[in-house]
Amino acid sequence: MKRGMPNLHPNQNNRMHYLKELLEEFEIRGSVAEIGYFEGEGSTWILMDHVAAHGGNFYSMDIFPTKRFYIKAQEEFCHANTTAIKGPSVATGRMWEREKLDFLFIDGCHGFPHFEGDGEQSGVALDILAWNQHMNVGGVVAFHDYMGDDSSFGSSEMLAVEHAVDSFMTEPFYSLIGIESTIKAFRKERDGVLFPIYTPKRVPDTYRDAWSSLRAHQTDMKEFLVYGAGATAKHVLDCIRDVWGSDVKVQFTDSFTTKSGTMFGCEKIPLEEVKTFTGTIVIGSIFEEDISETLTSMGKSEVTDFYGMYDFVGWCNVGRYGYL
Ligand SMILES: C[S@@+](CC[C@H](N)C(=O)[O-])C[C@H]1O[C@@H](n2cnc3c(N)ncnc32)[C@H](O)[C@@H]1O
Repeated sequence: MKRGMPNLHPNQNNRMHYLKELLEEFEIRGSVAEIGYFEGEGSTWILMDHVAAHGGNFYSMDIFPTKRFYIKAQEEFCHANTTAIKGPSVATGRMWEREKLDFLFIDGCHGFPHFEGDGEQSGVALDILAWNQHMNVGGVVAFHDYMGDDSSFGSSEMLAVEHAVDSFMTEPFYSLIGIESTIKAFRKERDGVLFPIYTPKRVPDTYRDAWSSLRAHQTDMKEFLVYGAGATAKHVLDCIRDVWGSDVKVQFTDSFTTKSGTMFGCEKIPLEEVKTFTGTIVIGSIFEEDISETLTSMGKSEVTDFYGMYDFVGWCNVGRYGYL
């Protein structure tokens, strides 16, 4: 049986202090949620403290990949108005039948829309679409890791936050109410079905440098096959076109392609045909390791991991490997 209210957390120097300011400035009095608990030491306590002081329910959602943190969350959320919800946030949003929220902090999957290995969908943009309908007008949605023009963060992951926020958190549905460090916050102005506003995005200079460097060293790359189907694959296409020009031949494939087709205006070939493809294959997907295995099993061998030369993309996954 759940009991009472949580005690206020002693940590007043929480790096998420801006959330506290938002909660107070916009006088949030209803229910509050976060996507992304992790260890429960950042946003969690600020949001919990707020409902303890002002009422409303608090929901913390996470896939909880680490058992010990799930146990920790369950112990912390032993109070009547606090709940840990284990599962992918997009699916949770689609099935949500509880009350509408007045505050939502989105800090879960930082990627472009994609399928997880278990078939679940993830991505910042999908979180926005799944949760918009559950926000009260006048409520606040805040995002973590919006890097904006800070080019020192050149990773595809952070670009996904930027893409999603810039595309969907727009008027007349949302108005920008504040930005501090990498937290960007919006107020919901009206209900409605969100549609994306397309804004062309920069290819970070650091990516362009990497591709230019590859071209300088490997002049024999004339024909490309990008393995991937999502925004990351499109990003690879943009990089190739940027460096090799628009005439270079680029084709696509992915693990689910069994018939020929088109994608991003290019030819899409069945996976089976990869075996006879003689140009350069580039992985344009976040599932690098799985795809590497597939390609190796098809007799392809890795020729370069050119992004490895760049520290800034230590964990970046855009077009990382070339296969011949
Ligand atoms: C950056 S951490 C959250 C940090 C936390 N908000 C804080 O302030 O310390 C991101 C969390 O999102 C979770 N996550 C990743 N993908 C998710 C998904 N599709 N649905 C729900 N949670 C997800 C991860 O397990 C991880 O714990």
